[in-house]
Amino acid sequence: MSLLKGIILHGGHGTRLRPLTHTGPKQLLPIANKPMSQYCIESLKEAGITDIAIIIGGLGANKVQEYYDNGEKFGVKLTYIVQDNPKGIAHAVRLCKDFVGDEKFVVFLGDNILKRNISDYVKDFQQSDSEAIILLCEVDNPTQFGIADVKDGVIKKIMEKPKSPPTNLAVTGIYFLTPVIFDIIDRLKPSLRGELEITDSLQMFLDEGHKITYHTVTDYWKDTGTPHDIIHANEVILKDMKPYFYGKKEDGAIIEGNVMVGENTTIKSGAKVVGPVIIGKNCMISPDSYVGPNTSVGDDSNLAKCNIEDSIIMTGCTIDCDIKIRKSIISSNSEIIYKKENGDKKIFLLGEGSKISL
Ligand code: TTP
Repeated sequence: MSLLKGIILHGGHGTRLRPLTHTGPKQLLPIANKPMSQYCIESLKEAGITDIAIIIGGLGANKVQEYYDNGEKFGVKLTYIVQDNPKGIAHAVRLCKDFVGDEKFVVFLGDNILKRNISDYVKDFQQSDSEAIILLCEVDNPTQFGIADVKDGVIKKIMEKPKSPPTNLAVTGIYFLTPVIFDIIDRLKPSLRGELEITDSLQMFLDEGHKITYHTVTDYWKDTGTPHDIIHANEVILKDMKPYFYGKKEDGAIIEGNVMVGENTTIKSGAKVVGPVIIGKNCMISPDSYVGPNTSVGDDSNLAKCNIEDSIIMTGCTIDCDIKIRKSIISSNSEIIYKKENGDKKIFLLGEGSKISL
């Protein structure tokens, strides 16, 4: 059996995640202090897929190459393929024709988080005569997803964001494909939003009599397109992490629950950390800080006075302010500081598209 190749989509517009995506691709946004696309790489690697192409494009595409380099640090071999413009998922897949050759392959959307190991699906695909296998997952809001109409275990139709969904089975962003798809994408017309849609290509696949089968994912799957999705994925991933502590805890610091703390981080006396929480390297968690459940704090951050839960604070942030921060995502090198001399005035210096709810 030949080894499959993997493809990770790392382009796209990322409009729903602005302003977080003004400086780089959404797939590099951290979930539990790790870029979301790293979970895709790890998932492919776990399944024995180490020859992987990453489709990059748009703002900050160079950051992807800087972070993953040739993949060696992550135990994989990476090839970068540039998508000049985000013309759709199917368009991005089509760019991989030469990379894939004649073999079966696996596509992973770089913003999809799947908790389950995909090894069984990969094995099944290698042995199967299906020309494509997709993973379906039940969702509460099927009008927001690509949906499969399934009867008696057979896929009848695949449609994008249907107004009256026939099922609540969303097509997830993990596709097991054969090179047949390339010829289909070549004949695909752009959708109303001007993109080559993967759902349209899968529907054409069915229309032309090719065999598509599916597995239903019952573990956690999340397409992290919005801030709310990212905060939710952060919570779910943190809940399952094994605690570790490489930092320093002063007497009088309170630590409860599952907590992961990196090297050279100090939890000062009087600080309280209630897990699940991850705190990176070189952080200072000072006496008046409370870091509560479902929170990730990136490396080199300094939390003085603070009260945070259900949030993602990226690297190099300073927070010294007696306000409750909830369900928030704070990008790297941000500051939230209380200054006595400001009185009751609030002073903001915000980038384009920032959001503040007081
Ligand atoms: P989407 O989340 O559907 O689209 P988007 O990234 O453009 O975001 P938004 O809707 O908020 O503007 O994309 C799904 C995945 O596919 C995501 O990982 C980005 C990737 N992608 C590409 O790599 N190339 C593309 O042309 C498109 C449309 C998406």
